[in-house]
Amino acid sequence: ESYDMGGHDTYMHKEIAEQPDAVDRVLRGRIDDRFATVRLGGLNLDARAARGVRRVKILGCGSAYHAGLIGAQMIEELARIPADAEPASEFRYRNAVVDPDTLYIAVSQSGETYDTLAAVQELKRKGAMVLGVVNVVGSAIARETDGGIYVHAGPEVCVVSTKCFTNTAVAFALLALHLGRIRDLSVADGRRIIEGLRKLPEQIGEVLKEEQRIAELATAVAASKSMMFVGRVRGFPVAKEAALKLKEVSYIHAEAYPASELKHGPLALVEPAVPTVAIMPDDELLEKNRATLEEIKARSGRILAVAHEEQQKADDTIVVPRNEPELDPVLMGIPLQLLAYHTALALGRDIDKPRNLAKSVTVE
Ligand code: AGP
Repeated sequence: ESYDMGGHDTYMHKEIAEQPDAVDRVLRGRIDDRFATVRLGGLNLDARAARGVRRVKILGCGSAYHAGLIGAQMIEELARIPADAEPASEFRYRNAVVDPDTLYIAVSQSGETYDTLAAVQELKRKGAMVLGVVNVVGSAIARETDGGIYVHAGPEVCVVSTKCFTNTAVAFALLALHLGRIRDLSVADGRRIIEGLRKLPEQIGEVLKEEQRIAELATAVAASKSMMFVGRVRGFPVAKEAALKLKEVSYIHAEAYPASELKHGPLALVEPAVPTVAIMPDDELLEKNRATLEEIKARSGRILAVAHEEQQKADDTIVVPRNEPELDPVLMGIPLQLLAYHTALALGRDIDKPRNLAKSVTVE
């Protein structure tokens, strides 16, 4: 992969478009059909050690933290290990209890983010087991961790992360499947996830074909005062990442909330000039999410749903292909990258180099 723009007007557009190939790369050579699992050569975590893990704590900053939130959910669902994610920048300052039965995972595109690296160093000093989920091969975090997974997204030049975020979420699906199959995930469920993973590159390609329509929807976003992004459980990290993406490239203020929390405060912000993007996969929470749309409609808020079928209560719906529910966050994030991109384009922003931001924050 070269640094050439390859006919795209920005690296962000190029990197969004590359995602089917990037996801293909993170999967390549790793699927083990015989045992309905994956091979993760660099993990350095044998089956006995994996069975001894009682908690998983994922650390990263910005988009890497959001990918970690998705990862934590996948690990809980597939491996049934309690898991959570926390900004590395917070973790390193709060004198956290370091537990010998916890598996720590540092997530980073660059592998050089100072806050994440400092968290790794502190954990290592205290004797913790720390893995890395990293894009840049041989980077500081890759070197200092005990093992890990390279996400193989290829070079990401645009300051805002797109393909690396997606590949990191897929890398976590691989890790969750691996840990699950060492523990209690059945062969049938292992096969189900593998089938879902194999479908991803093509399905991402289908989502990318919706670009023209998403560009039209972005015109309304560009005219908004502020935006609200909501989701539940699997949808919530997608909402957080989509809000961050929009803020970074378009400079439009955006809030991300669990849909269940709207009524506890943020509903006060909803009005016609503050549209809501609702991430609502067809899972066990769909009806709850539909009820949230009603609450928003009652306050005259406009709604854009990202869903598996048209949503009656929404003003517009971006329909994404169905996959396995555990993998919904991967596909549902893609159209929202395009929405952020086209909003920024409509507003004439410096898309690849947003103001005040650096690609990797290597200082405190
Ligand atoms: C992503 O769009 C941002 N540029 C930012 O949040 C980034 O994810 C964060 O600074 C962490 O960087 P890293 O993945 O290189 O550690």
